[in-house]
Amino acid sequence: MPQHVFPRSFKTNYLKADRGEGIYIFAADGKKYIDGCSGALISNLGHAVPEVADAVAAQLRKLEFAHPSRWQCDVVEEAATRVAEFAPDGLDNVWFVSGGSEAVESAIKLARQYFYERDGGKASKYLTIGRWNSYHGSTLGTMAAGGSMARRNVFSPIFAEQPKIAATYCYRCPFGLEHPSCGLKCGHQLESKIRRIGPQYVSSFIAEPIVGSTVGALTPPDEYWPLVREICDKYDVLLIADEVMTGCGRTGKNFAVDHWNVVPDIIATAKGLAAGYVPTGAIIAKDNLLDAIRKGSGAFMHGHTYNGNPVSAAAVVAVMKYMKERKVVENVRQVEYVFAEGLRKIESKNPIVGQTRGRGFMWGVELVKDKNTRAPFEKKTGAANVVTKECIDQGLILYPGSGMIDGIEGDNFLLAPPLVTTEPQAREILEKLSAGLASAAKKLLSM
Ligand SMILES: Cc1ncc(COP(=O)(O)O)c(C=O)c1O
Repeated sequence: MPQHVFPRSFKTNYLKADRGEGIYIFAADGKKYIDGCSGALISNLGHAVPEVADAVAAQLRKLEFAHPSRWQCDVVEEAATRVAEFAPDGLDNVWFVSGGSEAVESAIKLARQYFYERDGGKASKYLTIGRWNSYHGSTLGTMAAGGSMARRNVFSPIFAEQPKIAATYCYRCPFGLEHPSCGLKCGHQLESKIRRIGPQYVSSFIAEPIVGSTVGALTPPDEYWPLVREICDKYDVLLIADEVMTGCGRTGKNFAVDHWNVVPDIIATAKGLAAGYVPTGAIIAKDNLLDAIRKGSGAFMHGHTYNGNPVSAAAVVAVMKYMKERKVVENVRQVEYVFAEGLRKIESKNPIVGQTRGRGFMWGVELVKDKNTRAPFEKKTGAANVVTKECIDQGLILYPGSGMIDGIEGDNFLLAPPLVTTEPQAREILEKLSAGLASAAKKLLSM
């Protein structure tokens, strides 16, 4: 058969997916794989859940589309109500989009428009401070705020660069310090950055509460998010939490900022929101942002054809219902210890596992050539790909990443199975991971 699909990479041999069931994906040749990374931290409920599929099908038969410039739909209202209830108190206004990049773009634009409206069209606040080692999406605006070098470099000449600070990468502290004696220098850098630029030019600060794809579940010290909230308040800067990966129960709380009781001004979320059943994302914003628009021009100067699509909304309602009825977030909290303990054991035994980190069902593993010096593998070894290939042979799918040290070196992977994974399934995942890592270590250390 001729191939017309433009593949993500011409250098990858893709598995052919046939069907899914729970935490498993079956390939066309019948082989069964555990989806150990939920696709890309999307398939939170596992695959082919009939309740969600039925809700989507029913909505398709009832009404597939009604343009948001003309129509309101009850199902969209119900989805927004459920999302607002799920979000931290004070975040009550939901704007639905088609995915994570659109959600982050919407958040950045809402932050800018808020100041424009509030200050009677005279606002000079327009910059969004981001962090190196962050991924916020693949559109021009989100790439400008993000720091994923591999994804940015080709396109950096065509976007309007945004200022950056370092992320909380304690294993390789950019200042050569150690927590807690560091005094959280990386967090305080936000303040010096705002002061250098001039707070009158800064509209927002954006960060992933636990960094996902660029560096492998980088989990900040507990004081970090309260500190950046305080700095943002001090300088009249909006705080945007990019919870595209960490949201919707992934880390054992509804949203990851709940770990630190921090309420951002805007949460951008996607992935787990419709758990892979339809393309969906959303921003959830505080009242004062909408009030400024309501009293000002009256409209968010932004929109997409699929804003508030009824089919996506039906999926969101079904996913939220399922999570509540089946106590999915509670399951993450109950089973989390199996991953925490199992990964600690692997870290102590396996010679190429430098650090394991994470929360809930979002775990990162950093690979090193030498555990004492923390020296990474040379880029050409493709260590993360070697590990993921060995784990695929064990029947376990992982999410590899590289280049997190300086844009070139550094290998990691994410282990992030569906949130419905049971304790015995978690143990099976760890067995496969341990076996895959052991054979990868043999190969990599003899290269
Ligand atoms: C933290 C974060 N933000 C934004 C995005 C972009 O989302 P999407 O791929 O749905 O556009 C991603 C995707 O992986 C992500 O991990």
